[in-house]
Amino acid sequence: MKVQYSDKVSQVWPLFTNVDIDYGKDVHLYDRLGRKFIDFTSGIGVTNTGHCHPRIVNAIKEQSEKLLHGQTTILYNSMVDQLSYSLQKILPEELNCFFFSNSGSEAVESAIKLVRHATGKPNIICFQGGYHGRSIGALSLTTAKSVYRSGYQPLMPGVFVSPHPYFKQYQGEDTEKRTKQCLDELEHLLNSQSSPSETAAMIIEPVLGEGGYVSPSKEFIKGVRELCNKHDILLIFDEIQTGFGRTGEYFAFKHFDVVPDILVVAKGIASGLPLSGIVANKKLMDKWIPGSHGGTYGPNPLSMAAAIETIKVLEEEDLINNSKQMGSYLLSGLEKFKNEYTEIVDVRGKGLMVGCEFVNENGSPGTLIAEEVRKENLSQGLILLTCGPYNQVIRWIPPLTVKKSDIDRALTIFGSALKNSLGRKNEL
Ligand SMILES: Cc1ncc(COP(=O)(O)O)c(C=O)c1O
Repeated sequence: MKVQYSDKVSQVWPLFTNVDIDYGKDVHLYDRLGRKFIDFTSGIGVTNTGHCHPRIVNAIKEQSEKLLHGQTTILYNSMVDQLSYSLQKILPEELNCFFFSNSGSEAVESAIKLVRHATGKPNIICFQGGYHGRSIGALSLTTAKSVYRSGYQPLMPGVFVSPHPYFKQYQGEDTEKRTKQCLDELEHLLNSQSSPSETAAMIIEPVLGEGGYVSPSKEFIKGVRELCNKHDILLIFDEIQTGFGRTGEYFAFKHFDVVPDILVVAKGIASGLPLSGIVANKKLMDKWIPGSHGGTYGPNPLSMAAAIETIKVLEEEDLINNSKQMGSYLLSGLEKFKNEYTEIVDVRGKGLMVGCEFVNENGSPGTLIAEEVRKENLSQGLILLTCGPYNQVIRWIPPLTVKKSDIDRALTIFGSALKNSLGRKNEL
């Protein structure tokens, strides 16, 4: 069965599945034909509490009967404070001031505007392979794949791209050496293209998302922080995909013992309702002139109700810990396939942000193999996504509510999909 939108609908976005979605429950999705799927995409890392968690649905229902839109520049709504206090409890003390919006890209735009406004400096350094969104400002910082940029350039000026240590230990690469090379290149960039006096900020995803589910070394992230400190440059962490327990910590920066100056959040914050934000120290945030940035909708009362309840659910159901435990369980299951199939060259991840990278026999990126395996999984009821510059990585992002039995089922399907698709690889 091939599902396609009618010609009434723009087909700018690709359709990766033939699932005409009806409803979702925890880690499962059901289509209008009554088929059941295991969802290991979480709507691209959004439904961390599972689809339609009853407590969150209830919070939204209750809120919907009270207020749908309050407009934060006209009215004070104490829910904004309530949400800020909930977030403050899971963040370091210095990250104590919040600005909310709707989408991830919008929050990245906020970060760009804040750092330029607060420092009076024009330039931003980003890292190769990063994904920060698709509005023009956010897209200017996005280098994960050229499809996002093609046809839209020239983009925002004042952006400089530094290499990311996209480690290839499986090709015998020396992690320490690569870390040093990348930090040297970053310092060189500050000396050759964007001087510290003109550089407002550096922005990085602590674990690359769209770019391939790659974690840099602790030394690299610490090195970036040190360079920022040394040159009075602000450090922005885009934790839109890594946040809210995805990597087995509330935020991925915990893995690196580094705190950013600005944290960008979205996706998992509200379990599916649109909400995003930036978090920074109040001294920095106060440099913004009220009214110089904002929008009609953010933050919406329904999204705030969902977010407040989401944080309670993450805490009370111990989902951060579950992410850690289930992540290790999933990784060890995938390791077995890596030992069995030479096409799987790397299995990696933190918490429930796990990538499985494919190569062709000659070592080139296994784009077609990953796509074939993804489709075969779909036909057997497991929804997975790819990522990486060549879409050569299958990423595993189940809801953090996932149980061992769900992972066992998913791994069984994956095993069967590998057998079917790699058995056919000569025809690819
Ligand atoms: C790390 C990261 N930053 C920014 C974005 C953009 O968020 P949105 O799609 O909500 O605009 C995404 C979305 O996938 C993301 O993963």
